[in-house]
Amino acid sequence: MTADFHSHILPAFDDGARDTKTALAMIDKSAGMGVDRIVSTSHCYPYSDGDIEEFLDMRSAAFERLKTEAAASGTVLPEIRLGSEVHLTCDLTSLSLIKELCIEGTKYMLLEMPSSKWNDTVIDVVYKLSISGIKPIIAHMERNLGQSAELVNALCDLDVLIQINASSFGIAALKKEIDGMFLRGLIHIIGTDMHNLDTRKPDMDRAEKYIKKRYGTECWEYLMNNAGTILSGGELSYRDIKVFKKKGIFTR
Ligand SMILES: [Fe+2]
Repeated sequence: MTADFHSHILPAFDDGARDTKTALAMIDKSAGMGVDRIVSTSHCYPYSDGDIEEFLDMRSAAFERLKTEAAASGTVLPEIRLGSEVHLTCDLTSLSLIKELCIEGTKYMLLEMPSSKWNDTVIDVVYKLSISGIKPIIAHMERNLGQSAELVNALCDLDVLIQINASSFGIAALKKEIDGMFLRGLIHIIGTDMHNLDTRKPDMDRAEKYIKKRYGTECWEYLMNNAGTILSGGELSYRDIKVFKKKGIFTR
């Protein structure tokens, strides 16, 4: 099982696949890399319950368009779970429909953190989500490396999971940082964050190749097992978290 936990495959919905043809081509390319489970995480900017309702309606319609076109073209779709990449706002925890944005069949929610400097308010929102029963997964954490260690530690104390984009593996400027994150048990989930076929394309093969070579096959299996646990309705606990170094594995 290979699961892509971050993708923008729904046609003409957010800034991802521009049409059904592109969406199906992205899915087909992913399948060629062995991806058989895709979590669809379209951008959502919820400031009110109305925003969430509108998002859910439009997401359903986009998914129907995808399924209709797949059936018409004889394409067999992989397992697709609907979710969202939720932009963190101060209002999130006051929204009664917020749990609807979790990944289908799970308590997990992909959370897009602010690109500006985090503060205590940001951590407080994540805290409130956590105590409401939502399990946050921080999207592409490698984009947040400049944040204060104190606030990152505060996030970790909230037992959040961390997702890294496949395209970030092998980038020279990120190598050390990603080594350090694996060594501290801070990488749990992988996704492509694919938006199209060229600039932000399906590239799970890149991550698989790099991770297996640098950290070992056990590391790749660990990441895919984490994805499998979540998608089967389970939860990852702190004791399940493993740390990796180049060709080495340790369990806490
Ligand atoms: Fe994304």
